Amino acid sequence: MSRLVVVSNRIADPRKTAAGGLAVALGEALKTTGGMWFGWSGTVVEAGTPGEGEMHTQQAGNVTLATVDLCKEDHDSFYLGYSNGVLWPVFHYRLDLADFDAGYIAGYRRVNQMFAKKLMPLLKPDDIIWVHDYHLIPLAAELRAMGCTNRIGFFLHIPLPPPLILAAIPQHEWLIRSLFAYDLVGFQAEADVQHFARYVGEEAGAEALDPHHFRAFNRTVRAQAFPIGIDVNEFQALTRARESMDMFERMREEYARRRLLVGIDRLDYSKGLPHRIKAFRHLLTNYPENRNSATLIQIASPSRESVDAYADIRQQLEGLCGAVNGDFGELDWMPVRYIHRTVARKRIPGLCRAARVGLVTPLRDGMNLVAKEFVVAQDAADPGVLVLSRFAGAAEQLKEALLVNPYDTHGTAEVIQQALQMPLEERQRRHQKLLERIREFDVHWWRKAFLQALSETEPGG
Ligand code: F6P
Repeated sequence: MSRLVVVSNRIADPRKTAAGGLAVALGEALKTTGGMWFGWSGTVVEAGTPGEGEMHTQQAGNVTLATVDLCKEDHDSFYLGYSNGVLWPVFHYRLDLADFDAGYIAGYRRVNQMFAKKLMPLLKPDDIIWVHDYHLIPLAAELRAMGCTNRIGFFLHIPLPPPLILAAIPQHEWLIRSLFAYDLVGFQAEADVQHFARYVGEEAGAEALDPHHFRAFNRTVRAQAFPIGIDVNEFQALTRARESMDMFERMREEYARRRLLVGIDRLDYSKGLPHRIKAFRHLLTNYPENRNSATLIQIASPSRESVDAYADIRQQLEGLCGAVNGDFGELDWMPVRYIHRTVARKRIPGLCRAARVGLVTPLRDGMNLVAKEFVVAQDAADPGVLVLSRFAGAAEQLKEALLVNPYDTHGTAEVIQQALQMPLEERQRRHQKLLERIREFDVHWWRKAFLQALSETEPGG
């Protein structure tokens, strides 16, 4: 049987609980198959040489972790600069926040070349290579240039924007050409596949051989949606574990006479947090019965804090939370409990289970696994309601959630009120349908479907 080699920028020890959708999903997938996980060690070496990073390997159960350090210059230009200053905002439709500094691209190329150079000697001829996310788009092209003929798949965890937004990136043609060095390119949602098809047709003159095969740059690539899922059994077990049940009991006691709403996000401008707080404010203004009752616990974990746009969004969010609390708070009640820290993953299911409403309202999101976790954590006999942005990839699958347009803060407030008042029978019906779909398309389905499709491709086609 072929060995699975997973490559991603962020990696985590699969024996430990990790934070962030990508690391959790890949940890779950690799735990099942075993193999190698290659990526950045998380260490930034202040005085290192660009393009040179020390390698470390360790065994974690059936997974070999092979990691590389980044020097400060590479970290700043590859990770903070090009990945999170150019690709992240543009792929999330935020041209206004992109920083097209011409210096970043060299670092992005250099780190992808270094990853290829370090990975190449570790590869066996029949390894299946699965590369993840926007940091590593050119990795297959680099490996091919070094003579790699293995099957290589790529999965984009974030959205792919429409052609005219993508075209704002000065290197857009090179980026998409790089995708043709893979045998299979996976996206989260059908909308992303359509954007890819339109881009390659309009900008690269590609020929669509069928809805999933495209020929351009002398290569054929298969492109398809594989919506990522969670490990439902693992999350249910986490929900029943002591830490989670303790959290649930404490929250239920504290909010016995009140209504709890939760939001759990990285503090990222794509998550629509200021819009969410504004919607919550409208809820308190327009439906006064919620005053002294509805309480929003908003966890916003620190993320990419040295990128300016992240510092700005934090300031804006904190201003809005402070204003709502100042205007509506009572001596014994505060409407928003804002937490700017990472909360242990073990406590999250209990918090979700105690909530009447889960708010997952990004302005744009590849999938959003918190939406799925919120549903799985619920008590089927008395489930909470998921309010979900129509602009999250998850909305293509989770039709029984209450879908909202997060830019319409008045409309969102009305839907939150609807969620708070939803009768038990309707909550149960919606929850059951959502849970069925989340269970069917779980993380194991995702891994198997992607790897099956990759094994069907002609390597080097
Ligand atoms: O899921 C999208 C993603 O950008 C992953 O690639 C990443 O690991 C995660 O979000 C968290 O971001 P970061 O690795 O920058 O902390």
